[in-house]
Amino acid sequence: MEIVICPTASEAGKLGAAAIAALLQRQPEAVLGLATGSSPLHIYDELAARCQAGEVSFAQAKGFSLDEYVGLPSDHPETYHNVIRRDFVHRVDFDDSGVHGPDGLAADIPAFCASYEEAIAATGGVDLQILGIGTDGHIGFNEPGSSLASRTRIKTLTKQTRIDNARFFGGDIDQVPTHCITQGLGTIMAARHVVLVASGTAKAEAVHQLAEGPVSALWPATILQHHPHVTVLLDEAAAGRLQLTGYYRETYASKPAWQGL
Ligand code: F6R
Repeated sequence: MEIVICPTASEAGKLGAAAIAALLQRQPEAVLGLATGSSPLHIYDELAARCQAGEVSFAQAKGFSLDEYVGLPSDHPETYHNVIRRDFVHRVDFDDSGVHGPDGLAADIPAFCASYEEAIAATGGVDLQILGIGTDGHIGFNEPGSSLASRTRIKTLTKQTRIDNARFFGGDIDQVPTHCITQGLGTIMAARHVVLVASGTAKAEAVHQLAEGPVSALWPATILQHHPHVTVLLDEAAAGRLQLTGYYRETYASKPAWQGL
């Protein structure tokens, strides 16, 4: 796991965007795993700017969202289907029909989840998965206690996650759905490269556990310690509880340029 500590969240986002642009340069039809929420916004801003400048194209790429709330009407502005389009997909030259997400209104949720796994596999799998991390250590919406081998399924959101996300629902936790469909930890682990981005002191403990804690269902993101290619992009605040910061900084500063992220 590579830990990169950046002066600001914006710098972290620029590095993440550069990794995605480099991937699309080598492989224009790459499959991207897409996260919603605040964490990836700097990545999406930078990619939108690069796309407008003609430096990167998503025209042949595909995307799979990590998760979706269960039960929100399709015209609700906070469905992740709508959020990812507003924050990213419609700001670049992505073909809308090439961007998929869990169906939070599926009549048969287990059947839908199985079909989502099949759809990801049918594309050849995710080349680069963008992730945020919850204050409780979730990735996707794999809350504490999630099976470390889980696949796409329905989950109950923790109260902490609903409190954290109430800001998108007028500050009213009662408006935040109680359930979601999320790619599982096993699904996320199948991505070839994972780029996790985190900023702010609220994420510092989860980031410490992710990189330096024991692998445990209590901090689901710790499963990424078993992944061969994870890049963690942090601002100073999110790095605030890491123990080996000196080593991470030295390693990144002396990294051979040819390695990329
Ligand atoms: C969103 C997702 C979540 C978020 C996490 C952090 O698709 O899967 O894991 O990445 O809740 O959210 P933010 O970035 O809003 O702090």
